[in-house]
Amino acid sequence: MEFATRNPRMIELLNQAQKLARSEHTVLLQGESGTGKERLALFIHRNSAMANGPFVKVDCTTVPESLWESELFGYAKGAFTGANREGKLGKFDLAQGGTIFLDEIGDVPLPIQAKLLRILQDKSFDPVGAVETRRVDVRVIAATNKDLAVLKDRGLFREDLYYRLNVLRMTMIPLRERKDAIELLTQELLTAQMGRGITAPHLTAEAIAALLLYNWPGNIRELENACKRALVLAGGYGPIDVKHLPPEVAGELAVPPPRELFRRYMKSAELLLIRWALKECGNDRTKAARFLGLSRAALYKKLKLYPEFAAKQDIGG
Ligand SMILES: Nc1ncnc2c1ncn2[C@@H]1O[C@H](COP(=O)(O)OP(=O)(O)OP(=O)(O)O)[C@@H](O)[C@H]1O
Ligand SMILES: [Mg+2]
Repeated sequence: MEFATRNPRMIELLNQAQKLARSEHTVLLQGESGTGKERLALFIHRNSAMANGPFVKVDCTTVPESLWESELFGYAKGAFTGANREGKLGKFDLAQGGTIFLDEIGDVPLPIQAKLLRILQDKSFDPVGAVETRRVDVRVIAATNKDLAVLKDRGLFREDLYYRLNVLRMTMIPLRERKDAIELLTQELLTAQMGRGITAPHLTAEAIAALLLYNWPGNIRELENACKRALVLAGGYGPIDVKHLPPEVAGELAVPPPRELFRRYMKSAELLLIRWALKECGNDRTKAARFLGLSRAALYKKLKLYPEFAAKQDIGG
């Protein structure tokens, strides 16, 4: 499985993940929804000593309150009426020799948190109704899009479990903070949607601009959905244009501005980019000019047009 990225922070994150994968400790993946937590969990599993073992996912948001224990730990023969006569293996049994992925761990009820703590501490648990304690050799990866520290402070998440999980923590990077990845990712996602050997349609300059300007609150999952939709609307061929993107993404780029506003648009876009470039380059104007693909003289000429830069210019900064 590849992580398409040239973003330095993302590369750093993946290097870190590779290192963590080799240890046997519990990993906590924290991040907004759609940032790739599950994908990273799988990546860690596949780079770990457990790679040949199973990868078992538990979606902690969907387990009914009363079924938690039997879901995780299974139950012994004839443990309770209505139970399967032969007993049932829990997710921890199924993950034996592999990885268990506890997705949305912030949703685990408090009593179950105590049992998880025990597993993390001494790798053992008691199936419902069983006499014997069972031991497992399982790597635990947990993920959450909630702030566990806040849950802990509110008394909704056990402090000891919190600290136990917090040893190897990785925080996913929201898509809006690595927009340099968007073009490559979009290409990857489009290609993934196409049949084998079929080239994905390319994107128009306007479509790329819209993708870059949008903030992607739903992160990669939202981008993935936008790609699926665009392919359907573009009929699977021909360039993908702004009109094929969801309205919230297409935003103001969907229709050209009224004639009298072209100049205003040009100026405000330019001003915004210059501000960002200066900020990015710690106000170093030579660097900012290079950043924008302008000569130093050309940038200075532009700066003169905007009063907010005037003061510094007098000093020659
Ligand atoms: N680097 C990537 N390259 C391509 N696709 C990716 C990448 N990262 C994530 N995806 C895709 O984006 C979608 C969301 O990823 P994933 O389910 O791992 O995120 P998540 O953080 O668990 O999201 P959620 O909170 O919605 O469960 C998936 O379909 C996944 O395949
Ligand atoms: Mg997920």
